Amino acid sequence: MSSQQNSLIHFSNIARSQIEKLFSVAFQFSQSMTLPSRQGQTAALLFFEPSTRTRMSFETACARLGIYPLLMDGVSGTSLEKGETIEDTILNISAMKPSAFIIRAGDDLDFDLIKAKIQQPIINAGWGKRGHPTQALLDIYTISQQKRDLQNLKLLIVGDVRHSRVAASHFELAKIIGYEIALCGPAEFLPENTDYLQFQNLSEGLSWANAIMCLRVQLERHEVKYSLQSYRSEFGLNQERLKELTDDHLILHPGPINQGVEMDFETIHSPNSLIFQQVENGVYVRQALLDLILRGEWR
Ligand code: CP
Repeated sequence: MSSQQNSLIHFSNIARSQIEKLFSVAFQFSQSMTLPSRQGQTAALLFFEPSTRTRMSFETACARLGIYPLLMDGVSGTSLEKGETIEDTILNISAMKPSAFIIRAGDDLDFDLIKAKIQQPIINAGWGKRGHPTQALLDIYTISQQKRDLQNLKLLIVGDVRHSRVAASHFELAKIIGYEIALCGPAEFLPENTDYLQFQNLSEGLSWANAIMCLRVQLERHEVKYSLQSYRSEFGLNQERLKELTDDHLILHPGPINQGVEMDFETIHSPNSLIFQQVENGVYVRQALLDLILRGEWR
């Protein structure tokens, strides 16, 4: 097996059994602080776009595995400022022989092309609007930890689906795991050509779902700015809307949250909310993925 196959860029050619194994290793890491030591190994964490949760959870995962994280956080202070390309940057760092690359970048970087040019495994840590596979994995791992049957999961994705790499990864992962997805939001936020069930009324969507994932309104990616006030009143999961939920409804958000827009403080901290469990589980899932990749047992 070549190390180039031993990566996670998107979910094509990933089997359900691999994901079950990943979740099992993630659960073991959540239960034990007895850690494999990979002293002397490094991982290159290259974040060309901003991040808090993903970057710090990969740094934590590296620390717990005994791997030293080599962090490039943005462009400032690097030779990208002098005009070096991202591709050349990665090829140069590859020559320093890190054990793996963990990369967040915009749509214009071709992850598959980079993967073909370097020996090391690559983990996609957020790729423009194309995908964020470790986020989708940690979301589903978090739901599975609530003892939910994933075959009966009905996930309502609310909000800015058109610009969401998290939604893009859920569309792929749902086909592997077998959960149902429906979309809810203003027409401008929903994909134009999709077979997914769509709701433009939040109450109808909530009646259909047993889990709700609210997405951040990504104003920085919009040409025409949508009124946040209208969004809040029609699609915000606020204290009033919580009354429409039952104990069965799980609430998720990948973060960062526009608090007071897609959800408010009371929703974030409500008993139905799994938002901080998502962040905690992000470390275990990323730790498990790195461990399986470095053991050569991911693919
Ligand atoms: N969910 C997520 O990717 O958050 P960050 O942008 O903070 O990493």
